Amino acid sequence: MILLTGGLGYLGSHMAAQIIEQGHEVVLVDNLSNSQFAVLDRLSKLTGRVIPFVQIDVRDKAGLQQVFSQYPITQVVHFAGSKSVNESIQQPLDYYDNNVNGLISLLYVMKEAQVKTIVFSSTAAIYGEPEALPIPESSRQAPITPYGRSKQICEQVLQDLAHAEKGWKIAVLRYFNPAGAHPSGIIGEVPNGIPNNLVPYIAQVARDERPFLQVFGSDYNTVDGTGVRDFIHVQDLIDGHSKALAWLATQPQVFDTFNLGRGEGVSVKQMLDAFSKAVGREIPYKVVARRDGDSASVYADASHANALLGWQATRTVDQMAVDTWRFYENLV
Ligand SMILES: NC(=O)c1ccc[n+]([C@@H]2O[C@H](COP(=O)([O-])OP(=O)(O)OC[C@H]3O[C@@H](n4cnc5c(N)ncnc54)[C@H](O)[C@@H]3O)[C@@H](O)[C@H]2O)c1
Repeated sequence: MILLTGGLGYLGSHMAAQIIEQGHEVVLVDNLSNSQFAVLDRLSKLTGRVIPFVQIDVRDKAGLQQVFSQYPITQVVHFAGSKSVNESIQQPLDYYDNNVNGLISLLYVMKEAQVKTIVFSSTAAIYGEPEALPIPESSRQAPITPYGRSKQICEQVLQDLAHAEKGWKIAVLRYFNPAGAHPSGIIGEVPNGIPNNLVPYIAQVARDERPFLQVFGSDYNTVDGTGVRDFIHVQDLIDGHSKALAWLATQPQVFDTFNLGRGEGVSVKQMLDAFSKAVGREIPYKVVARRDGDSASVYADASHANALLGWQATRTVDQMAVDTWRFYENLV
């Protein structure tokens, strides 16, 4: 059985749908700090299954111990964490506490339960301003926000643990820019409050919930002057997790890090165009000043995941836009 922490969040819910479809048993835990209980109903509708769910905070060791004693867990995917770059600048203590202490609490309980396989959600924010493009895993790490630094510390904790104790099987996955939704339109990304990510923001503009998209800078040295990022379809990203779990199962012990991206940059303007096409009308936007700390271009060298996990992203930006819009059209 696979434990998904943060299982009702954007990525956790898509992982749950996929691995249930593959025939695995799952148990989800989430403290609902950035998700809603309604996602569990949507997942049941999508999979036709009653999915075990426990509402706890991963920093609650006693609560987690209870989960490990109740369910025959053999592998863990740790999605639970706080992910807003801007919020992390305002509330660094909360970010270090949730991301670092949450991981440490989980690892203590896993160790006690003799469950030593974990896939960890990390981020391309670890790299900061890229030294070179595309970015390989060995690139310099220079995160510029508490969020990125909290994930860097988590990676270090995992690496030190794998070094100190036998038997750990650890895959750290550094996501670039997840976007899109499940093709059913039943689950997707529903941010609480103002979206931090481009795609949900565009979707809210398309639904007339916000008047226009702010495009931060149009004078970068890129294809059309707007920032370039490595958007990756959530279903591709989740495929990477399934492949990582399968690969870990073949290893006696291992620690490794993988970039998950398409390996291709797409500009903000190109993403807007894909969305306009999916929605069938122009999405209003205004160009405003660049934001401090934003890089012109960020995209992955994902060849390591391809070589070791046999994984490669296949879905296009158009698919991300179409699937996101289908989900938003279904939202009440
Ligand atoms: N989506 C992205 O753009 C992105 C990019 C890089 C990395 N990540 C990382 O991937 C992971 C999942 O991201 P997501 O987009 O699904 O975020 P999300 O906020 O949608 O999901 C995270 C889930 O974890 C839960 N949670 C948070 N803290 C918890 C705690 N202490 N105990 C129990 N549950 C807790 C939240 O309620 C939420 O349901 C996060 O760790 C995030 O940092 C996300």
